[in-house]
Amino acid sequence: MNEIPTILLLGSGAREHALAEKLTRDGATVHVLPGNAGIPNSHPDVNPLDFEAVKAFAQAHNAKLIVVGPEAPLAAGITDFFTGSDIKVFGPTRAAARLESSKVWSKEFMRRHGVATAQAWQFRSDDIAAARGKAAELGGHVVVKYDGLAAGKGVYVCSSLEEAEAALNELQTQFMGWFSFLLEEKLTGPEISIIGLTDGREIKLLATSQDHKQLLAGDQGPNTGGMGAYCPVPFADDNVLAAIRRDIVDPTLQGLQREQFSFRGFLYFGIMLTPTGPKLLEYNVRLGDPEAEVLLPALESSLLDLIEAVLDGTLATQTVRQRPGAYVGVVLASGGYPAAKFPTGFPITGLDNLPADVRAYHGATRRAADGQLVTNGGRVLVLTAQGPDLQTATARAYEACAQVTFQDAYFRPDIAQRPAPVLTARVVN
Ligand code: AMP
Ligand code: GLY
Repeated sequence: MNEIPTILLLGSGAREHALAEKLTRDGATVHVLPGNAGIPNSHPDVNPLDFEAVKAFAQAHNAKLIVVGPEAPLAAGITDFFTGSDIKVFGPTRAAARLESSKVWSKEFMRRHGVATAQAWQFRSDDIAAARGKAAELGGHVVVKYDGLAAGKGVYVCSSLEEAEAALNELQTQFMGWFSFLLEEKLTGPEISIIGLTDGREIKLLATSQDHKQLLAGDQGPNTGGMGAYCPVPFADDNVLAAIRRDIVDPTLQGLQREQFSFRGFLYFGIMLTPTGPKLLEYNVRLGDPEAEVLLPALESSLLDLIEAVLDGTLATQTVRQRPGAYVGVVLASGGYPAAKFPTGFPITGLDNLPADVRAYHGATRRAADGQLVTNGGRVLVLTAQGPDLQTATARAYEACAQVTFQDAYFRPDIAQRPAPVLTARVVN
């Protein structure tokens, strides 16, 4: 690269803070639309779903590259919008984004290409009775999944007939009008996140990571956007990764090629290591949040170079180097999250004295009229620490959590502390 590239980064959470920090470190000038109070060069007045406004901003700042954080602009077709212009978008087309935006379509894609996944049955909202019958047949051990994007709220994991009934009832009250949904067999096993950069042919995987989706310790309580993450995952060794490649990643890439999808972006595989082998739970067409907040500080290679290689068609020549050691990110959330309503606007203190190697990624903060930094949503901050091993990194992350505070702050006390699972032979060969 001869000149300093200017990048527009779309999104407003801690994932985008981590992306902005990394791309800046890699040598880019990064503008974040809309960003938040903690991310330098944020532009709160630009709506990333208003593509004309994004284009005008790109032209005004001579930006030739747009990196998309969340799924919404991709599902709305931002990549298609800029196709044929001199502005490149790192992210899949709208058609390929259905891997995430439609659970039904994505399940059909998995089936067409032999991607290992849970058995599933499709229903329509006017046929709940049939779904009840299927749930009964499976003894209530089912997962109910709303077809569309639902910000993490459309999935109900059930362990009894009563729970399955309740999930089907809730589906009807949560989502109005006509819709489709899936009933899946409920799988068991540890989950891992496998995230890579792909041009639809090659994929370069980042470190293995684990999210913690439930609110409370011991993976209890309601689902959230994610309460913390760490990388790399000690039990995801080369054997596990080889099985994931063979049964999930490679068939996916072959499927993308056979169906001639243009997919240049991050591809995320949410995987469960079941007693009968790794199974794909879901695709996301973006970086995970909070996975990004540990994966990006752990990435030694230039993300900018990797993204440019994807867009230039030279990804095969790139290698991904990770920094040694472990990274742990703990989410500081507002008390009451993930309920629909909870108080915000509380002053945040303690950010100034954090150790130099602890990163504080802002997820939902704003400046009050007097300039004070205050809470502005559910997942307020992610504090990421590193260490030579997982235990040290975890201890450092929790020291930081004890230092940064605001009224009613909540964090899960057990991020990166799950007992090591015993994996059956089927998972690893
Ligand atoms: P999804 O959005 O499809 O990844 O689902 C959200 C969460 O629900 C996953 O991270 C899993 O914890 C759980 N889940 C999804 N599908 C299944 C399944 N078939 N069996 C067990 N748990 C599941
Ligand atoms: N961490 C899960 C997700 O980003 O969907």
